[in-house]
Amino acid sequence: MHSINTRILVVDDDKNLSQILVNILDYEGYRCEYVNTGHAAIEKGTNEDFDLVLLDLALPDINGMDVLKAIFKIKPALPVIMISGQGSINKAIEATHLGAYSFLEKPLDTERIIVTVKNALEKGQLLRKTNWLREDVKDKFSMIGNSTGIEKVRQLILRAAATDSKVLIEGENGTGKELVARGIYFNSRRFGEPFIAVNCAAIPENLVESELFGYKRGAFTGAFADKTGRFQAANKGTIFLDEIGDMSLMTQAKVLRVLENNSIEMIGSNKEIHIDVRIVAATNRNLQDELDKNNFREDLYYRLNVINIHLPPLRERRDDIPMLVNHFIRYFCEEQGRVVKEITNNGMERLTDHNWPGNVRELRNIIEKLIALYDTQVIQQKDIVALLGNDSLRQNAVVGDYSFKEARNNFEKKYILAKLTECDWNITQTAELLQIPRTYLYKKMNLLNIDY
Ligand SMILES: Nc1ncnc2c1ncn2[C@@H]1O[C@H](COP(=O)(O)OP(=O)(O)OP(=O)(O)O)[C@@H](O)[C@H]1O
Ligand SMILES: [Mg+2]
Repeated sequence: MHSINTRILVVDDDKNLSQILVNILDYEGYRCEYVNTGHAAIEKGTNEDFDLVLLDLALPDINGMDVLKAIFKIKPALPVIMISGQGSINKAIEATHLGAYSFLEKPLDTERIIVTVKNALEKGQLLRKTNWLREDVKDKFSMIGNSTGIEKVRQLILRAAATDSKVLIEGENGTGKELVARGIYFNSRRFGEPFIAVNCAAIPENLVESELFGYKRGAFTGAFADKTGRFQAANKGTIFLDEIGDMSLMTQAKVLRVLENNSIEMIGSNKEIHIDVRIVAATNRNLQDELDKNNFREDLYYRLNVINIHLPPLRERRDDIPMLVNHFIRYFCEEQGRVVKEITNNGMERLTDHNWPGNVRELRNIIEKLIALYDTQVIQQKDIVALLGNDSLRQNAVVGDYSFKEARNNFEKKYILAKLTECDWNITQTAELLQIPRTYLYKKMNLLNIDY
């Protein structure tokens, strides 16, 4: 950022020095203004849109620290560089603890001014970008619903986001566990750093270790180059260990060691690599049962279960259904470039009465289908009954103007969707029913754009 649109406010009672600063910064192409009192600085700094403030610590009316505090109260993200005389370095350092970007010591050095200003502006821009992004993404991933159950979840998300504690999210398929994990991340100080989701159920057992911890070149046949593992990729950010209940006992032991030591070892290396990662885990299994059956390690369970968020199934918060239905109708109509449809009262009643074994995901899929399949402007009860009552295999003929590949994909998609519905979107069960490995099913679903 280096343009005439970049506005800098210089605050110093030393007229000569201010003039020098303004000249230097003008020459660099910034738009500068200067004031010589604390009052004027607060007035201008809080009411106008500056990108940066250069603020002297010793002002005639209010001291620089109080000016800084007053500006931050209104504009907490505005970068401020303090200017300190010799002997007030301690004060300047204190100002950086309050959030000042940095400080410059008198006598001022031109090179240092230019570099510090440039860096402060970049930092400010990054911060603004992150904030925009946060608003943008937050909207996209917002949780719909105002039932007591969802309100409680919302509060827990915010509480968890304010800490770095481990979180365990429990809930049936499609209740919104991933949405919660992302919500925690978006609201946490780690937003902007990586968010890495790992589906523990989708990785074949023999690949888990290399996937999670990475490997060094030559660690085993076929390891032609170093590979970074997921934990390392998530460094400074958040790792989402999804379907943790499906992790084998062996992998559990390895993950436990990471949590205990905050470090990993790549395969083929015995060097410990320190990692700083926030852990959020989720499962659709009842981990208490898995503990009883010795399928899940107790020590790992207690380590993960610091903040517990339980997502109630949709049938236990029916109040949320109409809101969700309207939300998804609007969403899919807009996505498909249609005028937003309406739904009859009976139609809404039918949806509210449904038991939703696949929870919000199932509801979302049904609404998507309703929008895509019918051309009427009003969604009718009969269309809903047809969908909810019939298995999707019977919808839409497969034979059409398709290539062999398209027809096969169509068939496979409908077939898999039907079987998923039959198994309440339980992947393990569906894979068993289809007699294919779970990883193959995930691959197919990915290929066929089946949202899971
Ligand atoms: N309260 C909600 N508001 C809006 N959308 C939601 C809500 N809950 C879930 N969804 C949507 O439903 C779908 C399923 O949610 P998500 O993937 O978070 O569920 P899950 O619990 O992780 O499911 P699974 O156990 O099957 O992995 C997603 O498209 C998600 O955006
Ligand atoms: Mg999930």
